[in-house]
Amino acid sequence: MKEPLLWGREDKSWEGLMRMSKNKVEKLKNTVTVRSSRMNLWMIRATTSVILWICIVQLTAFGDMWGPRVLKGWPSCFTQESAIMELPSIPPRILPPKRVYKNNGYLMVSCNGGLNQMRAAICDMVAIARYLNVTLIVPELDKASFWADPSEFQDIFDLDHFITSLRDEVRILKELPTRLKQKVENGFLYTMPPISWSDMSYYKNQILPLIQKYKVVHLNRTDARLANNGQSLEIQKLRCRVNFSALRFTPQIEELGRKVINLLKQNGPFLVLHLRYEMDMLAFSGCTQGCNSDEVEELTRMRYAYPWWKEKIINSDLKRKDGLCPLTPEETALALRAFDIDQNIQIYIAAGEIYGGSRRMASLAKNYPKLVRKETLLEPSELQFFQNHSSQMAALDYLVSLESDIFVPTYDGNMAKVVEGHRRYLGFKKTILLNRKLLVELIDQYNNGAMNWDEFSFAVKQSHADRMGGATKRLVIPDRPKEEDFFYANPEECLEPSEDDDTSRSTV
Ligand SMILES: *[C@@H]1O[C@H](CO)[C@@H](O)[C@H](O)[C@H]1NC(C)=O
Ligand SMILES: *[C@@H]1O[C@H](CO)[C@@H](O)[C@H](O)[C@H]1NC(C)=O
Ligand SMILES: *[C@@H]1O[C@H](CO)[C@@H](O)[C@H](O)[C@H]1NC(C)=O
Ligand SMILES: *[C@@H]1O[C@H](CO)[C@@H](O)[C@H](O)[C@H]1NC(C)=O
Repeated sequence: MKEPLLWGREDKSWEGLMRMSKNKVEKLKNTVTVRSSRMNLWMIRATTSVILWICIVQLTAFGDMWGPRVLKGWPSCFTQESAIMELPSIPPRILPPKRVYKNNGYLMVSCNGGLNQMRAAICDMVAIARYLNVTLIVPELDKASFWADPSEFQDIFDLDHFITSLRDEVRILKELPTRLKQKVENGFLYTMPPISWSDMSYYKNQILPLIQKYKVVHLNRTDARLANNGQSLEIQKLRCRVNFSALRFTPQIEELGRKVINLLKQNGPFLVLHLRYEMDMLAFSGCTQGCNSDEVEELTRMRYAYPWWKEKIINSDLKRKDGLCPLTPEETALALRAFDIDQNIQIYIAAGEIYGGSRRMASLAKNYPKLVRKETLLEPSELQFFQNHSSQMAALDYLVSLESDIFVPTYDGNMAKVVEGHRRYLGFKKTILLNRKLLVELIDQYNNGAMNWDEFSFAVKQSHADRMGGATKRLVIPDRPKEEDFFYANPEECLEPSEDDDTSRSTV
């Protein structure tokens, strides 16, 4: 129990092997006078060791893909060339050196929520593990959320890349060491949800002592557990690094994403519309603008069926006027037209099934006939693999959203926010951040004749001039973290400074 757990320890076998082979070479030099048969034996052993050693050194230099394979066994050594042929798109990279630190224990985490909420949480948990000097066990993904996706971490993210690319910051293991694993299997595991929006001092003062006491602590909620602001620059940069480079989708998802992007690019510019007009969203939010009475009833039934959706009695009109409803497809069509977005542009709908189907999509389709979705661009056989894995579908939409010429989310959920932030990171690519409260007010005025089209369009454009995903200061509201800008929507600390710094969103 008391042995110091030193991260970097498994390296010793490597170093040992290297030393051993050198010793053998030394011995070989000193044993020229021994019997020739024994000499041959030494020769064979020494040569084998040296060859193996060279092989390892070369393989480590090939990049992160290789590190874990080498650790698993020698055979990869001899299939090196063919394997490289299969993976032409991954540039060779030198592995960062491992960070050596005294391990304070193990952190297990179970993420909750949809893909993008979990993604942000994984970044936070890496940062927490790093600053507590603990070992992180690969996060468990939520399989019981509304989306009920059975995918494991490695079904969505490139697991080996995640582990090796962060090894200069924190040790990440696929599972607990055997002894601790057995203990956990026997039911001994300290589990708790950390307090939301905490800063690192909470983790240092409250969580670290628990980890030291119990050796393993399991955090069973991960959404918004780390404050947006007031963290050191190193922590913020690490959150970004996990997000933008350590978390890479599996090659299979990346490949399909590239395919969709290429199909779109062949036909010119494209806009990704994250049309969050899906049944779960409407039932949860109680937004029923434009729904018929059967639909209102169905959505209400669904809301009552989910006990953890706390809000049951909802006034849709008030909520919409407060800007808290996702735009309807009809409102979205008006907004896009008001922005003078070319009616010939391809619009990729990044969403699940649109509630109300083609009836609700009619006005959008009339204004923007080039509407596409992954289901229309790809063969069913190509998507079959992803079909029952909503997170993998979401990952595909995520990749396409990043590459689009314009990204328009109709609601600010987690996907909208993380894509917004990522696009800022990629050079402030255009993201139209709709001010829904103002927009629905303008739409109502236009629809009831109080404004003509030109007035409406002008008002929409003018009020959104500084909401195009450019450089802005992140809104900070001490003591009201829920109302602040989400760190991941504008990871300022990680962005290239730009000249026309716009601080308009930084005032309360
Ligand atoms: C973590 O390790 C570093 C040295 O690598 C040390 O300076 C720091 O105080 C340690 N922090 C904790 C919380 O153990
Ligand atoms: C997390 O763990 C605590 C303490 O064991 C438990 O009360 C709570 O229900 C768990 N929450 C979740 C979301 O599993
Ligand atoms: C997906 O799930 C549905 C029902 O849950 C099932 O009928 C279908 O065969 C599944 N599809 C695949 C590709 O696994
Ligand atoms: C984290 O993830 C997504 C994309 O990787 C990005 O949009 C978001 O802003 C990122 N957050 C940070 C911390 O950089």
